[in-house]
Amino acid sequence: MTKPQVLDQLNRPLRDLRISVTDKCNFRCSYCMPAEIFGPDFQFLKKDQLLSFEELERLTKIFVDSLGVQKIRITGGEPLMRKDLDHLITKINAIKGVEDIAMTTNGSLLPKYAKPLKEAGLKRVSISLDSLKDEVFGKINGRGVTVQTVLDGIDAAADAGLQVKINMVVKKGMNEDEIIPMAKFFREKGHILRFIEFMDVGNTNQWKLDDVYSKKQIIEDINSVMPLEAIAPNYTGEVATRFRYVGSHDEIGVISSVSDAFCSSCNRARLSAEGKLYTCLFATNGHDIRSPLRSNLSDEELTELLQNLWNGRKDRYSEERGSVTRDRSKVEMSHIGG
Ligand code: GTP
Ligand code: 5AD
Ligand code: SF4
Ligand code: SF4
Repeated sequence: MTKPQVLDQLNRPLRDLRISVTDKCNFRCSYCMPAEIFGPDFQFLKKDQLLSFEELERLTKIFVDSLGVQKIRITGGEPLMRKDLDHLITKINAIKGVEDIAMTTNGSLLPKYAKPLKEAGLKRVSISLDSLKDEVFGKINGRGVTVQTVLDGIDAAADAGLQVKINMVVKKGMNEDEIIPMAKFFREKGHILRFIEFMDVGNTNQWKLDDVYSKKQIIEDINSVMPLEAIAPNYTGEVATRFRYVGSHDEIGVISSVSDAFCSSCNRARLSAEGKLYTCLFATNGHDIRSPLRSNLSDEELTELLQNLWNGRKDRYSEERGSVTRDRSKVEMSHIGG
């Protein structure tokens, strides 16, 4: 059967749906949910505002059957803060046409959940870790969480049979001196490490271009110690540029949204936990899907609504950064999960 294909205004198909299941997180990373803003009085979404697992199952089926989605990634906040998440994975895994189910997590709850998630059908996890030093990492995550907590999560995921990648956000003055130690550590451990340029997502993380440690600098640093060669992408629209250590199959990636944007192949849609569809990570507004979903629309009507949204899409924020879009308000990372 040929796969459905819906194109946006820049001829990009939709392939990848990122579903945020909660806006809560047990960390307060300075570049994502700074504690001063996301404090004890911060109003997170209430239970009835969240899309239920049944609603997510129905939407996913429409996205797969009629819009061409092949890959689902579960995000948050911290997705494992949502109760019984393995039940959602079971539902998504049963949908014909879903070729890949992944999750982006801070890893802290994986010792408890890795096994049931794998059994439910989860294939891969991206686990965030920005430093190997407790003092630095405790400050970055805003809650004093130790490095070992995340390493335990990484081991639990690998032991459960999940494919593991590590995400390290690199910010100048925060952790660029840990690029090489992290590269060595995860090369040894056999996990792919991806370096992510600090991005201007949302409005609360005090982003400055000066704080960005670029892909070029990251590669130069590693290359001077462990020579690298570029390798081809795994799939069209992969956000990480891949490299391998010369003479080996050990691999790293760099996600260079700031210095080398990849919007021209962007095939991702993001659904927030409250059911808003965002056609770009840097969008100002999402399109409300929850109200139509809860107002007895048929699958055909929902399909048409979603197809029209994707058809109308022209987002290419990272390619335009610095020109027209600089000061406008943007959705927070914790709302749409990166
Ligand atoms: P794979 O499925 O293994 O290729 O993983 P992934 O890179 O798609 O997922 P992950 O959630 O691990 O993303 C890593 C980082 O890339 C996160 O910081 C995301 O915010 C960032 N990222 C992912 N997709 C996009 C995108 O479309 N645009 C931008 N600017 N950044 C993105
Ligand atoms: N810039 C780059 N990456 C970020 N992440 C969160 N906030 C930012 C930011 N401002 C990363 C997290 C995680 C993924 C969801 O996005 O570390 O790996
Ligand atoms: Fe939580 Fe991830 Fe944001 Fe850190 S980056 S505050 S772990 S959602
Ligand atoms: Fe896609 Fe927006 Fe990221 Fe560009 S900035 S790659 S359009 S999500």
